[in-house]
Amino acid sequence: MSAQPIEGAFADRIVAWQKQYGRNHLPWQNTRDPYRVWLSEIMLQQTQVVTVLGYFDRFVERYPDVKSLAQASLDDVLGLWSGLGYYSRARNLHRCSQNVMALHGGVFPKTADVLETLPGIGRSTAAAIASLCFGEQVAILDANVKRVVTRLVGFDADLALGANVRALWDATAALLPRGRTGAADMPRYTQGMMDLGATVCLPKKPDCSNCPVRADCVAAADGNPQRYPVRTRTLKRSSQSIWLLWAQTDDGAVCLSKRPTPGVWAGLHCLPLFDSEEALLLAVPAGMRNLLQPSPAFTHVLTHKDLHLHPWHLAMPAPVDQTVRWDDGQWVAKDTWPALGLPAPVRKLLLQASVT
Ligand code: ADE
Repeated sequence: MSAQPIEGAFADRIVAWQKQYGRNHLPWQNTRDPYRVWLSEIMLQQTQVVTVLGYFDRFVERYPDVKSLAQASLDDVLGLWSGLGYYSRARNLHRCSQNVMALHGGVFPKTADVLETLPGIGRSTAAAIASLCFGEQVAILDANVKRVVTRLVGFDADLALGANVRALWDATAALLPRGRTGAADMPRYTQGMMDLGATVCLPKKPDCSNCPVRADCVAAADGNPQRYPVRTRTLKRSSQSIWLLWAQTDDGAVCLSKRPTPGVWAGLHCLPLFDSEEALLLAVPAGMRNLLQPSPAFTHVLTHKDLHLHPWHLAMPAPVDQTVRWDDGQWVAKDTWPALGLPAPVRKLLLQASVT
């Protein structure tokens, strides 16, 4: 039997549908506590709801708030995570809790832009937390929502290309609830888009007869929703390890050099890059090597490549000796570098360290 038709503008129908047919009793719902929402979103990134349920309850029992998680040892956190897989999530979770304590006074930031500077929080997760907890009018775009929106608007460009993914973000943002009531609707709207993708707009067998936005859906009208989303070629991925020299003075100036064209991050201002740890260490004058500290390594996913990034922090006293620089780099003052074109992971690294 089909559900009752739901009327109104797109966002209104998603909200009304979520209320009636969505998932409303999961343990991380019915709360605006960003700690619980953040934890659930990280756990749900690569894991099914049924698996997450047990882990989530055990986690919040052991660590009821961000402070208790930050004070835990990484070994204990990894132990409790054991079995969920993708352990970088647990390491980032722990680092993120410590950043929230150290940089944000123990309070989660309230906007997606600032949330995204925290370890392990990407654009969609940041938007999920900000919209579910604080009503920010920002779009999420996880795999479920990509399916919903590509079908809805008939978006058939190849999502293997970053430019097309960016266009899909724009199309998704254009659907958000607007106006004065928009913010109040955001938690249910975000949950509704996730629920629609997870329970109705399924990859192989979409249940179009029970879809609240079928009347607007280009793919349903064409009769072949399964052809979306389009990913015409499975990219052959490669990976590369890069060591970054993150030299920064105690007044916040950073040594940046412009990346050559062609190559990774062509034309962007970047920390000096090295192919190995040895090459980086050798580039630092012997008398300064005691100021070097490795920062946690992380992976940045490009369209064709996984970049394994290994930053080394070199803390230098100001004023800096202008002759000490690398790769034709320049020292750029703290109020200047944020406006430069920086690779996303480099910006994230620098902002993470500078947010107070
Ligand atoms: N997957 C990602 N976030 C979710 C949420 N809040 N509820 C259900 N499934 C999800």
